[in-house]
Amino acid sequence: MLSVQKIGITPLLLSRVSEGEGEPSPFVLEQAQLFRSDKRRRQYILGRLAAEEMLRSLINDASPITNGPRGEPIWPPGVVGSITHTSSIAIAVGALAEAVRGVGVDAEEKARRISEGVIEKISKQEELGWIYEKREEVNERALTLFSVKESIFKALYPTYRRELSFRDAQVTIGETGTITATLSHTAGDVSIHEELLGQVIYDPSFVITLVILPKRT
Ligand SMILES: CC(C)(COP(=O)(O)OP(=O)(O)OC[C@H]1O[C@@H](n2cnc3c(N)ncnc32)[C@H](O)[C@@H]1OP(=O)(O)O)[C@@H](O)C(=O)NCCC(=O)NCCS
Repeated sequence: MLSVQKIGITPLLLSRVSEGEGEPSPFVLEQAQLFRSDKRRRQYILGRLAAEEMLRSLINDASPITNGPRGEPIWPPGVVGSITHTSSIAIAVGALAEAVRGVGVDAEEKARRISEGVIEKISKQEELGWIYEKREEVNERALTLFSVKESIFKALYPTYRRELSFRDAQVTIGETGTITATLSHTAGDVSIHEELLGQVIYDPSFVITLVILPKRT
C-alpha cells in the first residue's frame, strides 16, 4: 500500500507492507541471513520490501539499501528516508532531499504497555500534562510520545550523527494528530536546535508517527 502524505507542503511517499506480501530480492535474503533471530530476519525483510517499493515510486530505482555503523539506512544520493518494522508490518517513508532535510517514521503495537517509570524518563513536564489529561488514554498517549521521539531521532541522526536524550525533544500533539517539536541538544561544544513537523497516522492496531526535518528557510 503506497500513499503520498503531506506534512506542511512537503510530499512524502509512504509504503506499508504486511507479512506475506512481496518478493524479497536475493541481496535482501542474503543480508537477512546475517541476523541470528528469525524475528529480526523477518522484520528486516519486511522493512526492505517497504523501502524498495517506496524507492521505485520515488526515483524509479530500488538499489540495495545498506546500513551505516549506528544502524541508519543508507539511501541513494538525493533521497532521504526512514524505515520501521513491527512483527507484522513495516513502513518506509521517503522524499527527495531537495524537498526536505530528513524524515523519520516509527510504528508501535498498541498492545505494548508503557510503565510509569518509562513515561517519566521520556517526557518533559508539559508532555506529562498531556499524557495524564485523559485517564483512559494514558498508555496510547505515552506510546505516541515515545514513537514521535523515535521518529525524531531517525530524522535527525543522518544529519548530526549524535546520540540524543528523550528530554532533548519537546513535543506537542494537536487534536488532529499534528506534531510540532523542538529539539535542543547541547553536549561539549556541539549545540543542535531544530524545529520539526509531523503527523500521527491513526490505525486500529498501531501507533504510527511520521516526522520531517524541514528545509531551512
Ligand atoms: C534506532 C532506533 C530509533 C530504532 O528503533 P526501533 O524501535 O528499535 O526499531 P524500528 O523498527 O522502529 O526501526 C528500525 C529501523 O530504524 C532504522 N535505524 C536504525 N538506526 C538508525 C539511526 N541511527 N538513524 C536512523 N534510522 C535508523 C533502520 O532502518 C532500522 O531498520 P533496519 O535495521 O531493518 O534497516 C532505536 O533503537 C533507538 O536508538 N532509539 C533511540 C531514540 C532516541 O534517542 N530518542 C530520543 C531523541 S528525541
